[in-house]
Amino acid sequence: MNTTSTRAAAVILFTSSIWGWSQSPPSSGTHPSASEVAAGFSNYQQITKSVVYVNPELAMLCRGASKAEVDSARVKFGPHANTGILIYMNKLAADAFATNASAYPVGAVIVKQKSIHGYADKDGKRAHEADTGVGGMVKRLAGYDPKHGDWEYFYFEDTKKIKSGRISTCVQCHTSAKDKDYVFGTWRKSGG
Ligand code: HEC
Repeated sequence: MNTTSTRAAAVILFTSSIWGWSQSPPSSGTHPSASEVAAGFSNYQQITKSVVYVNPELAMLCRGASKAEVDSARVKFGPHANTGILIYMNKLAADAFATNASAYPVGAVIVKQKSIHGYADKDGKRAHEADTGVGGMVKRLAGYDPKHGDWEYFYFEDTKKIKSGRISTCVQCHTSAKDKDYVFGTWRKSGG
């Protein structure tokens, strides 16, 4: 190989690696880690057009829910009560979702970004409890957690402190959506 063709080959290699990078950032592969998803999910397809309030009972109280109301809704509906959510999916998940597939393929990622809207204190002032939290599920290879659909769950409020794995609280509650491959999808109608 002469110098010119070596240089040409180097240019091609370089260009194709840039191209490869822009085509498939790490978080869109079939085995993204929870931290890769955390870093890249905002580039995924946003499935809900706008924020969906997941607890209509509380969302309808325009005056702002009281702490007692939020607490009792939490008992009834779990930690997501009085929460606005946005749903993001990577391409694998979005394609399965769009075609109403009965199960999600390996590498599918669904992310729920929630903003917590707090409650009004007794003087009607809005008390803000916390801001945002991001929960997600990543479909892993068969055998990861075969009794629960092989989903890995993760949750973080700070990307430096991501909890991930077969998180038992997530697994248990999502088991009630077993017939939809553990995806509740209750936000489907309201959010678009
Ligand atoms: C008490 C029940 C409960 C628990 C515990 C729970 N979830 Fe959920 N999750 C839901 C419900 C209900 C929805 C539907 C949307 C909503 O109401 O927020 C949901 C929606 C989701 C979604 C969007 C996909 C879907 O199923 O619609 C993700 C992702 C998610 N949860 C992740 C998690 C993670 C991660 C954990 C654990 C840290 C967790 N959830 C714990 C009930 C639960």
